[in-house]
Amino acid sequence: MTDVLDTAGRTRTKEYITPAPVVEFMIRNSEVRKDARIIDPAAGDGAFVHKLIGEGYRKVWGIEVEQDRADQLRQRLMAYDGFCLLVGDALNPVTLGSWAMGSFDVAIGNPPFSYQKAKISQDEILVNYELGRPKQSIEILFLERFVQMVRPCGLVRIILPMNIFANTALQYVRDFILENLWVEAVIGLPRHTFGGTAAKTAILFGQKRGRDWDTRSDFLNQKRVKLASIRDIKTLSELKTLSIQSAEGGMLVSMADIKNRMDPDYHFAGIELKGAVTESEVEFKPLGELAEIRTGFVKYGEKRKLIHDTLPKTKRLQSKYIRLIKAKNLSIHGFRFGQDDFFIRTDEEIFRSWACLEVGEVLVVRVGAGCVGRAVCVIDEKYRGQADDWMLIVRAKAINPSFLAFYLNSTIGKAFVQKEAQGTGTVSISKGKLQKVLVPVLDESVQREFELEVKSMYDKQFQGKTDKAKAIFNSLDKKLHGLIS
Ligand SMILES: C[S@@+](CC[C@H](N)C(=O)[O-])C[C@H]1O[C@@H](n2cnc3c(N)ncnc32)[C@H](O)[C@@H]1O
Repeated sequence: MTDVLDTAGRTRTKEYITPAPVVEFMIRNSEVRKDARIIDPAAGDGAFVHKLIGEGYRKVWGIEVEQDRADQLRQRLMAYDGFCLLVGDALNPVTLGSWAMGSFDVAIGNPPFSYQKAKISQDEILVNYELGRPKQSIEILFLERFVQMVRPCGLVRIILPMNIFANTALQYVRDFILENLWVEAVIGLPRHTFGGTAAKTAILFGQKRGRDWDTRSDFLNQKRVKLASIRDIKTLSELKTLSIQSAEGGMLVSMADIKNRMDPDYHFAGIELKGAVTESEVEFKPLGELAEIRTGFVKYGEKRKLIHDTLPKTKRLQSKYIRLIKAKNLSIHGFRFGQDDFFIRTDEEIFRSWACLEVGEVLVVRVGAGCVGRAVCVIDEKYRGQADDWMLIVRAKAINPSFLAFYLNSTIGKAFVQKEAQGTGTVSISKGKLQKVLVPVLDESVQREFELEVKSMYDKQFQGKTDKAKAIFNSLDKKLHGLIS
């Protein structure tokens, strides 16, 4: 990685130097003519510019905001005619005049990263960026700056924090990447690549889109994006001949495949899941073939007043009420009632009979980064109620519902759910995506064994014996693993 703003605004930044094998790997995979115009917009001590000059490139530019770092760099590279250093803020259009924007063949480097509280908030900077947001991370603005600096078909090579490639909230940054670049590769770097920080980072290799880009949709679907995860940076120097486009190591995917996630490990996990399915002796079927799915119901706005957190005192009035079940009421060990209880009247417009649960149905949480896919089976009348619209209701046809609810929470089931879950801002799984989740179809007798254990787990959870419920869950998780792999 790079470098961190240590307080809000511009204070002196710490320099995380890019190790030589990473610099070499990035330059080696940026083949251009020796007279190509190349810029490192966050040059620091000059790890990239030094190497570029050493490799015989004759038009190398650097920008550095810290005067003393720039002075040292200038001193060391004074002898080279082909090196031009600008001192100033690379994000400010004044530093590199508009005449030079879009004129470089390559923008390469390791920009500074922001911590949570140290983001760019100056309007005069932010207005220059499509990715400008109130308080934007410096590395996101640098990414756009790199793209702005190169000509159409020019190369962008930039080290970025892994969250840009993975976090749901940063989908708009990935949209920007895909709209502006042909992604050649995303290469994950090991933690501690940049001494003093364990942050996960990756190198983005991209080529700025040219004018004919839109007409090449078939091209976008070709598997030409290289994803790899480097475990030890020393291997980068051993891989002298490794071109990022060669198929050895890592995997090749299409631009369409990386629309939502670009982090290599996510795609490797997807392959492992596929492997689990093909190698397992157990047959897997999509949930849509085994069950029917519908969505719960609730009303919002003014109608929220129709949700009560206590029941009336008298039995006669209580009979008019039904429980409203929300995501909070579901845990992987069973229903959670007592603290977060909600009730609605069956004679008010918030009630829908079709959103009420029958014994034997499975509730699945539809929205929420931490809880999407969480599932519980209604094993008893006492758990009945109306599901709110953050929940999907699954009526099992060809699978034991208690087993299904457990499976969706299990390590392997959860991985399948996560693979289908998506969204910007909030992670969610739609009815259609839940239908695609693969479910192992075990022998009925084995499913029945799971059912008995699941019922016992729910009882323990209901009685507040959470530790016992957790122990049952863990042993079932191991058992399932053993049966599938
Ligand atoms: C992570 S270091 C990279 C140094 C060197 N390129 C390397 O890879 O080893 C980032 C450098 O960017 C500089 N920097 C920070 N904010 C900048 C800005 N707005 N404009 C230009 N340089 C900046 C820092 O002073 C630091 O030297």
